[in-house]
Amino acid sequence: MIKVLFICLGNICRSPMAEAVFQNLVSEAGLAGQIEIDSAGTADWHSGERADRRTLAVLRQHAIPYDGRSRPVQPADLRRFDYLLAMDSQNAADLKRLAHSGALDGKLHRLLDFAPAGYPQDVPDPYYDGRFDYVYELVDAASRGLLAHIRQEHRL
Ligand code: 4NP
Repeated sequence: MIKVLFICLGNICRSPMAEAVFQNLVSEAGLAGQIEIDSAGTADWHSGERADRRTLAVLRQHAIPYDGRSRPVQPADLRRFDYLLAMDSQNAADLKRLAHSGALDGKLHRLLDFAPAGYPQDVPDPYYDGRFDYVYELVDAASRGLLAHIRQEHRL
């Protein structure tokens, strides 16, 4: 099983959106039995809560289901998952701190490392500015690139 974890700050806006979009792509590709997908937050402020209603509304517009609950990332996640996808550079820095030195052995990426040329590096936090459609656009493009990358690496 290939294990993929999406990480943002609160695990209610961006990483649940990425988890749902990527799960949908993986299911459409017939790879759901081979790729395990989850998401988590670097902060525990929303632990146990459903995703933000604005994330759920955008997902619903695209007919993508999601019923996950927010949870904080744990040190064990950094060992268990094969791909750690941070939504922005601050999330990546926070994960490195959680992992101590060198423990991430090339597993940690920013999600938008897998987006086409010309995309930004960070998925901006939509919690205050409400740009959830833009987050969807970024997450969808990068998720397609991520799946292509994983398929190539694992010959799927
Ligand atoms: P997320 O967005 O990291 O994409 O889930 C946020 C959610 C909550 C807060 C900040 C960002 N907050 O300040 O509670």
